[in-house]
Amino acid sequence: MQLLPGKFMLNAQTACWLSHDSLRSDWEIFQQDIRQATGFSLPISTHLPARHVIALHIFSKPDSLLGSEGYRLTVTPEKIDLAANTRTGIFYGLQTLLQLLPPQVESHELVKGIAWTIPCVQIVDYPRFHWRGLMLDVSRHFFTKQEVEAYIDEMARFKFNVFHWHLSDDNGWRIEIKGLPRLTSVGAWRVSRTGDFGTFAPPQPGEPADDRGYYTQDDIREVVAFAAKRHITILPEIDVPAHSLALIAAYPNLSCTGLPYAVNPGSPFYRILDNVLCTGKDSTYLILDTIFAQIARLFPGPYIHVGGDEAYKGFWAQDPRDQAVMQQNGLHTLEELQGYFERRVEQIILAHGKKMIGWDEILEGGLAPEAAVMSWRGIQGGIAAAKLHHDVVMSPWGHCYLDLYQGDPLVEPKTYGMLRLDSCYFYEPVPPGVDSSYILGIQGNLWAEHVPNLRHAEYMTWPRALAIAEVGWTPAAEKNWDDFIARVEALFPRFDAQEIKYATSMYQPIIQPVRDSLTAELEVKLRTQVANLQVYYSFDGTNPDYFYPAYQGKPLRFPKGATTLRVVSYRGKQQMSPVIAISVDELQRRLGNY
Ligand code: ACM
Repeated sequence: MQLLPGKFMLNAQTACWLSHDSLRSDWEIFQQDIRQATGFSLPISTHLPARHVIALHIFSKPDSLLGSEGYRLTVTPEKIDLAANTRTGIFYGLQTLLQLLPPQVESHELVKGIAWTIPCVQIVDYPRFHWRGLMLDVSRHFFTKQEVEAYIDEMARFKFNVFHWHLSDDNGWRIEIKGLPRLTSVGAWRVSRTGDFGTFAPPQPGEPADDRGYYTQDDIREVVAFAAKRHITILPEIDVPAHSLALIAAYPNLSCTGLPYAVNPGSPFYRILDNVLCTGKDSTYLILDTIFAQIARLFPGPYIHVGGDEAYKGFWAQDPRDQAVMQQNGLHTLEELQGYFERRVEQIILAHGKKMIGWDEILEGGLAPEAAVMSWRGIQGGIAAAKLHHDVVMSPWGHCYLDLYQGDPLVEPKTYGMLRLDSCYFYEPVPPGVDSSYILGIQGNLWAEHVPNLRHAEYMTWPRALAIAEVGWTPAAEKNWDDFIARVEALFPRFDAQEIKYATSMYQPIIQPVRDSLTAELEVKLRTQVANLQVYYSFDGTNPDYFYPAYQGKPLRFPKGATTLRVVSYRGKQQMSPVIAISVDELQRRLGNY
């Protein structure tokens, strides 16, 4: 990007010109995005005016630098020229143009008294990876069609192009399948529980299942079209053979035990209830054929995600049908039995004209011949698959799981693990020694056990997904943390104007207990991810502010009698984090655990 002197003034007289009528839908999204705040309708002009115009061109002779997603954007005081090889490139250029307008452009209400200026720039922009995804789990908690669309709409702002829709799990089946009515009449319903998912009481005898949610096929088509307009492909996931309790609740004969189960409401059940499809029953493959046939028709993207993760195989070990499959096919381990299952599932997927992708466990028993792998347990699965010349999407939990804590658990809503913004940002998706052509890209995953509503989904997603977006888009050599943070901070007022929730956890002091190497005495180091912050602290039980002692880099020791350390970050006189109060006991516990 080159910033040039001057600016373009957008006003009600600004016209738009399209080189191809096919760009109309892309322009309309931009029009919609700015209409509420500006009140401008910005009509399409049939001739190309010399001034006051936003001109969108598809190159007649492809620009080899830009590829299929890049664009060139030139803003002068007279006109805006946006050119690309494809509609997708034009759409991304329009997202950039939107970002160049003042933050108030994102408001849902008419904003008066603002000059809608765009700085003069010359931008040439194209992505590093072609797979830039986010996953939303709609099984653990259901998100309505409108909520999913809102999520997708925000993804488009940051040039994500894959929305991975986790449509089934133990806690709810979320998609209508014709001819299998119990999937939604039973599988989409569970007893209501509120609070700490995973610790809930199991369904009680006679308790009605009244917490429901699923998408009709019309809903699915609508969301697919909504995403397609934003150049986002939807990757549907049906998670088998495990994570299948909702499917098994609907059709109990599919499991090894055949026992009747309720859809799980977030109570402990793993290894106790049989949430795994039996590999030795024809009905398993018949129902998957029916399901995947319809999924293949509903979703135009090239891939179907078949899950494959975390299959507890204890029921297979005891079931004569599964054991017979192993004997007949010369399989020696239960992992090989899963491999056999995955190969049969791949045949189904291929027969319906799609490619299969699964979590990295599908490698364990021998990878299906054409399957792509989503590496989540770390990067080893991705490395192994790439070395076998299979395509890989990198989504290691330690860098990409958006359901993890992003700040100190003492001041964040309960979840598990830790993934601070910098751990997302500094992730490099191509492991050393791996042929980068097999690394399709990167994906952030938002599992929803602890995400009961859209506001919290937004909070967990932003800003960490901005880091994922940048890892997916920007050449590794161009990444710059301080510059990224400055741009994240410039986006916060835009999220505010849009009324999108986001986390400011990146400003929190990071508390690191250590033991003095000589005396083994507890000491505390403090740091921040973001530069230009000062951390203040207290031991006296009161809340520190910028009049308190400032942390200078020397580890702190608890004064005699003190039991709690309180820390807070400031930028100048502005408080940037909540006060975090941590006890000696908690510090000792973390020393043991981390
Ligand atoms: C997963 O997180 N179980 C894919």
